[in-house]
Amino acid sequence: MSTDAIVLLKEDHKEMRRLFREFQDAQEGPPRRRQELVTRILAALTVHTYLENEVMYPEVRRLLPDLEDDILESYEEHHVADVLCAELATMDADDERFVAKTTVLIENVTHHVEEEEQEWFPKVREALGRKQLQEIGERMLALRPDAPRTPTAPKALKKALDALTA
Ligand SMILES: [Fe+2]
Ligand SMILES: [Fe+2]
Repeated sequence: MSTDAIVLLKEDHKEMRRLFREFQDAQEGPPRRRQELVTRILAALTVHTYLENEVMYPEVRRLLPDLEDDILESYEEHHVADVLCAELATMDADDERFVAKTTVLIENVTHHVEEEEQEWFPKVREALGRKQLQEIGERMLALRPDAPRTPTAPKALKKALDALTA
């Protein structure tokens, strides 16, 4: 199994896209199904964003100052996603805003993931060696069991609150 940071993050992105498609396919079904899918989407996003915020982003920022603007924009996109996730976590699937809010979350995250994969991950791959990317990946794998799994977990909320009050 690869421990390359970009490979690992792209695997997460693939799983997110799969869950997004499942949600889109569940538009006509029972609200319970959409609720269950949103719970899984929120968990996947919370873990992934946490690992990027704690390891990948600060490391890229430190090693590649030229990518500072991309990283800052990405942090802001994470923050928008955090707010939507925190709102969805307390919302019922039969709320009239539930599908709309989830759709906006999916659109935002899809855009964000495309920017990561197409705009700045390739620059990171080019600038850092294989060994460095593997070390970053290993740190993310080690941190994964401790990552928050719901947007309302204290570690996840702290990030959203820090961003709001900074
Ligand atoms: Fe991200
Ligand atoms: Fe990502």
